[in-house]
Amino acid sequence: MRNWNFLGFLCLAFVLRVESLKFRKSAQHVERISGSAGDVLEDDPTGRLKVFVYELPSKYNKKTVQRDLRCLSHMFAAEIYMHQFLLSSPVRTLDPEEADWFYTPVYTTCEYLTPHGHPLPFNSPRMMRSAIQLVASSWPYWNRTQGADHFFIVPHDFGACFHFQEEKAIGRGILPLLQRATLVQTFGQRNHVCLKEGSITIPPYAPPQKIQSHLISPDTPRSIFVYFRGLFYDKRNDPKGGYYARGARAAVWENFKDNPLFDISTDHPTTYYEDMQRAIFCLCPLGWAPWSPRLVEAVVFGCIPVIIADDIVLPFADAIPWEDIGLFVAEKDVPYLDNILTSVPPKEILRKQRLLANPSMKQAMLFLQPAQPGDAFHQILNGLARKLPHHHKIIYGDNYVLNWTAGPVGDLKPW
Ligand SMILES: *[C@@H]1O[C@H](CO)[C@@H](O)[C@H](O)[C@H]1NC(C)=O
Ligand SMILES: *[C@@H]1O[C@H](CO)[C@@H](O)[C@H](O)[C@H]1NC(C)=O
Repeated sequence: MRNWNFLGFLCLAFVLRVESLKFRKSAQHVERISGSAGDVLEDDPTGRLKVFVYELPSKYNKKTVQRDLRCLSHMFAAEIYMHQFLLSSPVRTLDPEEADWFYTPVYTTCEYLTPHGHPLPFNSPRMMRSAIQLVASSWPYWNRTQGADHFFIVPHDFGACFHFQEEKAIGRGILPLLQRATLVQTFGQRNHVCLKEGSITIPPYAPPQKIQSHLISPDTPRSIFVYFRGLFYDKRNDPKGGYYARGARAAVWENFKDNPLFDISTDHPTTYYEDMQRAIFCLCPLGWAPWSPRLVEAVVFGCIPVIIADDIVLPFADAIPWEDIGLFVAEKDVPYLDNILTSVPPKEILRKQRLLANPSMKQAMLFLQPAQPGDAFHQILNGLARKLPHHHKIIYGDNYVLNWTAGPVGDLKPW
């Protein structure tokens, strides 16, 4: 069934459209602060902010990578590349007195990786505390604002909640020492304890060279209607089922495993990236966290992301017109995915595909090496620049007292 041509889909889409209009109400509301719809918000951070990069002993950053090179390519590698980028960025200042922002380069997801390469962040809170203590005792700037003009890259599943299971992450909450800091993280979900106001949501890291090497001709027909590769169940961490992906992935499998329009499987083929370039819709359901690298891959490969993650806050949502390029399906509507997708008007599909073809859309999703204007590094800087100037009262005079001993007792042990 992979050889269905696009025209076939269009006919089918037309036929099924009428029956399923009622399901089209399920789109989630995505907040967008500014930017013209249909284009990536153009913004140049140079000259709009100055960042001071703390120099820390290499055990907080470079040594962790030397110990485990897998950190350079996993989906959390933004913490490493952002550091490298800032060191040679024109926004860097060597004079902390003129800095708008302070950056502490600490690679918390590289601290410990399982033999399978999954970072377990159990020591991350202690590592982070240790870095903050060092910064606060060696320079006057942390105590001056109690971290309010400091930002941190915390790319793990639930950001600075430092646990991969949502329930546990919620139980932990954001590391108390980071109460005032700005967090730059992949995790984004509205009204969630692991996303505090003012955070900057970023895309996960996808290796740009690898993506480049798998590009096929943009004229290749998109003969796959719906594409997904990945887990439907996580038997090991969720033996009873229903908790992983809040059941949404299981519902995809149970409803559509035999549907010829759905090319879905747990197998991860070597042609994964090419297949996405041959697909019209790419499912991006939540997993343990609402986000996954599929979001980036779908955009980069021009496959319309079908976002199934209620209340997700998408990367750079103030700059990227997600509501125009993607499709939002409520978790509870997964059983109607076939109707929902086949009822998207062809005109709408073509419009989304055209927007996805905009190179600046792809650029914003990638941490390019070398960095390019408009790429993910620059989007982060734009996000930081848009938060300036810092509110004077918040910074210098609201009597906020940081509690250095708050949080789980285990986190207080030295790292
Ligand atoms: C900042 O405050 C902490 C905690 O009160 C203290 O241990 C540290 O010495 C202070 N740093 C400086 C540079 O005064
Ligand atoms: C700081 O947190 C600890 C642990 O939660 C608590 O026992 C203590 O009372 C707090 N201190 C202040 C000043 O709030």
